[in-house]
Order: sequence, then C-alpha cells, then structure tokens
Amino acid sequence: MKIFIDSANIDEIKEAISWGIVDGVTTNPSLIKKAVEYFKNQGISFTMEEYIEKLLKVAGKGRWVSLEVIGNTEDDMLGEAETLFAKFNNISNNVIIKIPVNPEIEENGTKHFDGLKVIKKLKEKNIPVNCTLIMSSNQALLAAKAGAKYVSPFAGRIDDFLRKKIGMTFEKEDYYPEEGLVIDEKVLNDDGIVSGVDLVASIKEILDNFNFDTEIIAASVRNARQVRELAEVGVHIATIPFSVIKDMVKHPKTFEGMINFMKDTIPEYREIFK
Ligand code: G3P
Repeated sequence: MKIFIDSANIDEIKEAISWGIVDGVTTNPSLIKKAVEYFKNQGISFTMEEYIEKLLKVAGKGRWVSLEVIGNTEDDMLGEAETLFAKFNNISNNVIIKIPVNPEIEENGTKHFDGLKVIKKLKEKNIPVNCTLIMSSNQALLAAKAGAKYVSPFAGRIDDFLRKKIGMTFEKEDYYPEEGLVIDEKVLNDDGIVSGVDLVASIKEILDNFNFDTEIIAASVRNARQVRELAEVGVHIATIPFSVIKDMVKHPKTFEGMINFMKDTIPEYREIFK
C-alpha cells in the first residue's frame, strides 16, 4: 500500500518524507488554511504561490501532490484546474488536480452535475485528476468511468455520518468498527454501506471487477486501526494525517523494550561505539 501524507504543512511533509514512507501528498483548502495559519503564527510570511512552489519542491518528483479547485461550476473548476496545472506542474512535474465528484449545483432551477464533465475534459487535456469527496461506491464508479486517475472516498466522514444518524457523540479520532454498529438488531448503514472502511472495500471490489486503471486513495483517515483495516482490504493508497502516521509507529511494549535494552547495556558493549 502506498502512503500519502494528508497535509499542507511543509514541516510535517519534510519530516515524514525523511522517514522514507511517503509516496505522495494530498491537500485541500482546509489543510492549506491550517498550514498557512501555523506558519503565520511563527511570523513567517510568504505569498500563496511561493508556499505552493516550496511544497511541490519538498514533495519532489515522483510524489503526487493533490491541489484542489474551489469552484463548483464547470467553467470555474475547469479554469482553476488549468490555472493550477499551468502555474505549478513545471516545478516538480507532480501536480494532480482534486475535483469534487458531483457538486450538484442548482442554477435557475436546473441541477448541474459538473464534476464528472470536468473530469472528462481534464482527462482529454492530459491533466490528471484525483476525484474527491467520494461518499458512495456509485460516485467512485462514475468518476472512474469519466477518467479520474484516483478516487478519494472519505472513510472517516462516512463513519461520522453513520454515528450522527443515531445522535452518537464522539471524538474525531475515535475508532468506528469496520463491520458497523448494531442498533436495534440492525447494522447501521448508509444505503448498505456500514462503515468508511466498508465503503473503500466496496469501491475496491467494483474497480477490480471491471479492471479499471483508477486507483483508490482512502481519505479522511482518523486513526491507526483504520489504516490497518484499509491495508487489509487492499486499498491502493491511504492518505494519512501526520498525527496518525506517528501513532502507527507507537506501541507501549516497544517503548518498554527500548528502555530495558538501554538499562541492560554493559560498559564493554558500549565501548564498541566509542
Ligand atoms: O483527504 C481528505 C481529508 O483531509 C478530510 O479529512 O478528517 O477532515 O474528514 P477529515
């Protein structure tokens, strides 16, 4: 499984890359807001162009960086995708454009389904797309057919959605069972999907059934146990916040073992390293 870091924070991205485990980076407007606030609070100033250029250089060639459009209509999304690609792809040749699957915008009584249209047009222009905000297997199927290189199901937000249906209170990082929650003898579900990991598994099955080249980036990942389950269902890529990547390394018995080995080290053995 490939690991992307779900962050726009250059310090975090640099650190995670130095661990040798990062294959790509995903950003969105909320992550950019958080990262820019983090640096501004330290008195570091820059233009948005400078920041993105640096981020793309830090990620480096061969590691995709997802940059998201902000519009909802076909014209806006297409124009923004072309602007982002033209401005930034020449820096490290690693820009991929995030397009929401289906904003379903209503204008003058007509509903537009512009996400798919934009994906198709960008495919024709050889601009790679990561189709984002995927909340159902059908959306993923359609995005793959329209030509998305990647589809990003938001696992954690599906778990949130299911919990909110029954008014459950929870913390963002709380684990939600892959097999779902049984309430009144029925598994809580969203059109048959019982958890975020279940959604990813369903999309994986569908894309495999028809040999799509489209790969899945499991997004909105909230905890280390969820990462393990995503790996078990064979997702191609998981994009993971740095806090969760750090949790993946931790185990109390590993820590205890390190302390004990340090305590037991005899001076003769220590001598070797002098
Ligand atoms: O990659 C999408 C991700 O950043 C959204 O995560 O935790 O806000 O649902 P979250």
